[in-house]
Amino acid sequence: MTAADADHVAATRTFYDAVAEDYAALFRDQLTVRPLDRALLAGFAELVGEDGRVADLGCGPGVVTAHLASLGLSVFGLDLSEGMLAIARREHPGLRFEHGSMRWLDLPGGSLEGVVSWYSTIHTPLDELPAVYAEFRRVLAPGGHLLLAFQCGDEPRRHEHPWGHPVTLDFRRMRPERVAALLEAAGFTLVQQTVRAADTDQGESTPQALLIARATE
Ligand SMILES: C[S@@+](CC[C@H](N)C(=O)[O-])C[C@H]1O[C@@H](n2cnc3c(N)ncnc32)[C@H](O)[C@@H]1O
Repeated sequence: MTAADADHVAATRTFYDAVAEDYAALFRDQLTVRPLDRALLAGFAELVGEDGRVADLGCGPGVVTAHLASLGLSVFGLDLSEGMLAIARREHPGLRFEHGSMRWLDLPGGSLEGVVSWYSTIHTPLDELPAVYAEFRRVLAPGGHLLLAFQCGDEPRRHEHPWGHPVTLDFRRMRPERVAALLEAAGFTLVQQTVRAADTDQGESTPQALLIARATE
């Protein structure tokens, strides 16, 4: 890990440790109110196949992890933030949640049929994304599937003192076609690229990208 990596990772962990309970309360029903996101997750689960081994990387409070488990996947969550993990373990006691960074996974190569990154690469510096995608590709078996969700756009947004906590973090936005090109360079074939409109009733301010890609054979 370089010093710059360490700074970015430490800032992300500090931010999510501080906001964990408020974040979990805000996003507890995120899938209940978003049928189209559920549809994409259902399609991903079918592509992975029943009992497929899946890592939900940057799982936060574990809402998506639990949803994927309910769809029949053998899924575990991983996150940098112990605050987030404590909530995930408390709210989903039957599931496994581990501490770690998605950039350096303690998993053998080719050991998963699925990887999910649901709004968890949005704090990764752009020049580090190729290495993160390469790590996703390394742990997937050939033919395994990746699901990425992120906000579309060009300009990052800075969240300062959310819910009054003394922390600040940049949220990056990306163009889906740029992400697709980086995924192809990392050894993936794009399967599905969905951009849905911002759900302004739920506080979204930009279109949302949901990409599924397959690890090349
Ligand atoms: C916006 S939240 C999304 C959480 C969850 N996926 C959800 O949709 O509710 C981003 C999460 O990614 C985690 N995260 C960010 N960078 C990470 C990294 N390099 N490794 C592991 N987790 C990371 C954060 O700690 C945080 O819990």
